[in-house]
Amino acid sequence: MIEAKSIQKFFSVINEKGLAEGLTALVNVSLVIPDGKIVSLIGPSGCGKSTFLEILAGLQAPTDGTIHIDGKLVLEPLPATRKEQIAYRRKYRFISPLANGVFRDHPKHDIAMIFQDYAVFPWMTAQDNVVFALQLRNAGRRGAEKLKKADLLEKATEYLKKVNLADFANKYPSQLSGGMRQRLALARALSVEPKIILMDEPFAAVDALTREKLQDDLLRLWNERNKIGKPLTVVLVTHEVQEAVYLSDEVVVFSPSPGAIRNRIPVASRRPRARTDPGLVEIQERIMAMLAYDINQESEYSI
Ligand SMILES: Nc1ncnc2c1ncn2[C@@H]1O[C@H](COP(=O)(O)OP(=O)(O)OP(=O)(O)O)[C@@H](O)[C@H]1O
Ligand SMILES: [Mg+2]
Repeated sequence: MIEAKSIQKFFSVINEKGLAEGLTALVNVSLVIPDGKIVSLIGPSGCGKSTFLEILAGLQAPTDGTIHIDGKLVLEPLPATRKEQIAYRRKYRFISPLANGVFRDHPKHDIAMIFQDYAVFPWMTAQDNVVFALQLRNAGRRGAEKLKKADLLEKATEYLKKVNLADFANKYPSQLSGGMRQRLALARALSVEPKIILMDEPFAAVDALTREKLQDDLLRLWNERNKIGKPLTVVLVTHEVQEAVYLSDEVVVFSPSPGAIRNRIPVASRRPRARTDPGLVEIQERIMAMLAYDINQESEYSI
């Protein structure tokens, strides 16, 4: 279970006049996500969705508030003094959000993340991308738990097969289509068999039809995990209302910057769902109306 309590995030930024000013990205975000659920975060650009996801993953520290995953604290808020910060970084092996995202894996919390911009490494073949994720996870294992090289390769092949990329194992990401790259990112994240997968607009860069296929791939893989009794929790950031409603057990709507939770909308329809299900369409329309209202309010303020 993921429990976010009163998360606040404040950034210090240097403005165009060279002066320091503050930017509040998240205000008092509290959210509980039970195991095995699919939850979407939706809201206008800049409302703090990616920031919230990175705080969930422990890649950024909140300014205030706590995240617990299965009762374990992810990161404490960053302390104010430099001396305390040094001790803090040592305690959590916290380097920087980017470095932690690339190099730090989260065996402690069993999370995999697919980032908004760079989902896979362009200098590695499809197979090596998956093997790399498995190696990172393996590095935290001891003794008999540690997988051998042959096992890593076998597991990588198994997951490439799951997303229909077995024939493309030796291709580089630049040689794959956009949809294939996203499936590779999915295979890489799922190969470590995490309890939680955090996805930041994973299907944004593909055409509508491919996007629907990718959504169904995700649901199929999520379902496979349910069948073997190891439910997967998915937290997904998206701009597509239809996608959020089709995939999720709950849609969390954020308000425009500074981000706060505006509404939480449960989607109770049983799966498999039809995209045209009137119940789903009604929920989509409600969410669209909320988002449109917020955007209009914003533009009135800015006139
Ligand atoms: N490292 C940072 N330093 C300063 N400001 C930041 C930093 N990261 C994010 N922000 C600011 O925090 C706010 C929230 O950013 P975030 O990337 O979380 O938004 P988002 O909801 O993911 O937007 P999008 O939908 O466009 O991806 C934005 O105003 C952004 O400029
Ligand atoms: Mg974002």
